[in-house]
Amino acid sequence: MVQFTQAFAAALLATSAVAHPGGNVNKEILRRQAHLDHPERRSVQSCKRDLVSSGWVREQHIRREARLHELRVAAGFAKPGDLVRRNVADVEEEYGANAACTLDPEATEGPYWVTGELIRQDVLNGEKGAITHLDINVIDTSGCKPVTDAFVELWGTNATGVYTGVQAKGNGDGSASSLPSNALRGIQATGANGTASFITLIPGHYVGRTNHLHTIIHHGAKKLENNTIQGGTISHVGQFYVEQNFLGQVEKTSPYSTNHQAVTTNAQDMLYNMAKQGGDDPNLKISLIGNKIEDGLYATIDVGVNPRARQNPQPVNMWTKDGGKPVPGSPWAGYPDTCLYCGFRPPGVIRRAFGFE
Ligand SMILES: *[C@@H]1O[C@H](CO)[C@@H](O)[C@H](O)[C@H]1NC(C)=O
Ligand SMILES: *[C@@H]1O[C@H](CO)[C@@H](O)[C@H](O)[C@H]1NC(C)=O
Ligand SMILES: *[C@@H]1O[C@H](CO)[C@@H](O)[C@H](O)[C@H]1NC(C)=O
Repeated sequence: MVQFTQAFAAALLATSAVAHPGGNVNKEILRRQAHLDHPERRSVQSCKRDLVSSGWVREQHIRREARLHELRVAAGFAKPGDLVRRNVADVEEEYGANAACTLDPEATEGPYWVTGELIRQDVLNGEKGAITHLDINVIDTSGCKPVTDAFVELWGTNATGVYTGVQAKGNGDGSASSLPSNALRGIQATGANGTASFITLIPGHYVGRTNHLHTIIHHGAKKLENNTIQGGTISHVGQFYVEQNFLGQVEKTSPYSTNHQAVTTNAQDMLYNMAKQGGDDPNLKISLIGNKIEDGLYATIDVGVNPRARQNPQPVNMWTKDGGKPVPGSPWAGYPDTCLYCGFRPPGVIRRAFGFE
């Protein structure tokens, strides 16, 4: 019934005080546990047969191969006629297997979600780092079809581990310097193939967390004239990660190498470990566009969602013409010291189930 051992969750709960300085992640662990235990939970893998037989896996593989080739040609690393295609039957066979790019990790929005972001593909705003062309396919795992009418929201830190649009102790130097920026935050519609694509950076690390990108998937939201979205529901709150060896190489490049915040590896990050449970793989599948990281990256991932699921993430700020502004009553306001979600303690019934009482 439960997807992973309670002992593992209990161990995480016991050690979770170290995850965020001044806060803890018990709430996040419990949310992920509830998702894994949900009777209607289905992974992308469970849709393999339908997605292969409808031809979608094949089409998406071909589309992504062609896109990577296009990026290589544009950067001068390949000639238009050079594309060597992989055998599609092998790709179909492997689809959704472990270490493939499929997942459905319900995770946490964390303390730094800024609502009201703009619909745009390129979210760099001049930030420097490992430029990443990110291709996210969204799959409805209840019907085993691509989700063609969703909005995918994405945000992450800059190369030295600082979020824009927010001010908090522990976010960079804690000053208001990144409040006026919306860099590395944006929204994209999925469209006919269920694909949302962004141009962003591999995020930097910060104290207590390994490098990660946040995502939220919106359904039924309305596009406003000023290129923002309003209303609708949220089915999925997740985080994307980078395989550790590759991450180590990224961290050696400039300007990541100037980030002096303490490192947490994937293996040491309990949210990463939670995200790997239940057959999910939250790592981006990354290819070099050229010969080295500095030449740019192409990254793909498939996200399984149940569009009727209702998640209730809470933004700390709202993006406005004048920068990030506090959302009144946000449970993250005051993070990490005084917020409603700071120091969350699991309810007694769960503490007893996990052997804490
Ligand atoms: C969907 O993918 C196909 C290839 O499988 C491609 O030709 C088409 O342009 C894509 N459509 C969109 C809207 O991206
Ligand atoms: C990340 O953002 C902070 C705050 O705005 C800034 O001081 C720092 O230089 C940025 N990092 C890089 C690599 O640009
Ligand atoms: C976009 O329009 C909405 C609705 O009028 C408004 O609340 C929001 O502040 C606007 N966003 C920006 C960035 O101008």
